Amino acid sequence: MHIDPSKQQQFVDHAMMDIKGGFMMLMAHIGDRLGLFRALAEGPMRSEELAGALGLQERYVREWLAAMACGGYLEYTPDTGAFHLPPEHAPVLVDAESPVFFGGIYHQLPGLWHILPELKEKFRHGGGIPLDRYTRDWWEGMERVTATWSENFLMQEWLPQAGLLEQLEDGAHIADVGCGKGRALIKLAQDFPRVTAVGYELSDINLEGARRLAREAGVDNRVRFHKHDVHDGLSGPFDVVFTFDAAHDFQDPQEAFRLIHDALRDGGSYLLVEYRVGDRLEDNLGPTGALFYTLSVTYCMTTSLCLHGKGLGTCGLPEAVVREMAERAGFRTVTALPFDHPLNKVYVATKAAS
Ligand SMILES: C[S@@+](CC[C@H](N)C(=O)[O-])C[C@H]1O[C@@H](n2cnc3c(N)ncnc32)[C@H](O)[C@@H]1O
Repeated sequence: MHIDPSKQQQFVDHAMMDIKGGFMMLMAHIGDRLGLFRALAEGPMRSEELAGALGLQERYVREWLAAMACGGYLEYTPDTGAFHLPPEHAPVLVDAESPVFFGGIYHQLPGLWHILPELKEKFRHGGGIPLDRYTRDWWEGMERVTATWSENFLMQEWLPQAGLLEQLEDGAHIADVGCGKGRALIKLAQDFPRVTAVGYELSDINLEGARRLAREAGVDNRVRFHKHDVHDGLSGPFDVVFTFDAAHDFQDPQEAFRLIHDALRDGGSYLLVEYRVGDRLEDNLGPTGALFYTLSVTYCMTTSLCLHGKGLGTCGLPEAVVREMAERAGFRTVTALPFDHPLNKVYVATKAAS
């Protein structure tokens, strides 16, 4: 067999970058969780200063700083021995309000590694992994990842593009299915004082977090969270139902679409955020597809299979399938919003008015 040496070298370089990325994720997790990035955002520091400021062991901090400087996260000045976090890196590493903040994913990802032995067993024998096997790091990181989307896009783009602002301002009864820690609902309740809301969720860690966050935000009298499986039906009638990156995880998304449709009042709307994926594997080849299918194996497909679900997976709801399912569920119209984002696509489906 002919081997092309330059193609081989290209792949060695490619694989090496992925390996380096995997190791950097470990260091970035430590940087995020121990406040190292945040402290460095204040200005250049030597290892002794940084360790002193955070009450950490200097030897560990020095080695971490070296790794992050070699990895291109920090800049190092040999003359002074100081490490510097460039201001251009701060939105990614420090600023949780920024749309390109990655702290949540650094927080979240190591929460997966302990499921690997169980996951390998599922490859051999089938079945799935229950939601309660995922750690606090997984759920807390997920909350921080998706909060960057709801903080930056929900009010600014999704609701205006879906034409829902006026309805929410006037007061509406709304639901979020698979609400996680409820950040989107809490934000909606804060921004629209006449809204009442229900969040449905299966994970106890998420429910506990959602109730605490609603209390802290002072909206717990208008936002309630229930441990409830969407497949058991929703009480309603709701003016608007949301799912944020959740519908593809459900055991039976088609049935969930139908139950959501039936829980809406006539003329009500279902706004769903899904991953921006193509219809076929060949449409998804590339770095984003690699991320999505990995997320699918480690979480989305696998948690659905655990509940004897269809396991559609992270890429299971491309636009054509969303349209088909919404139409079959009885929605009158389905519109893909013009929202332009590399990972997410947003749709609004409308129930016929009586
Ligand atoms: C990917 S997470 C997204 C969470 C949240 N919407 C967010 O954006 O952060 C999907 C959520 O759906 C919940 N979930 C999965 N299946 C469900 C079901 N059948 N009924 C209600 N919630 C479900 C999971 O517990 C998980 O919190």
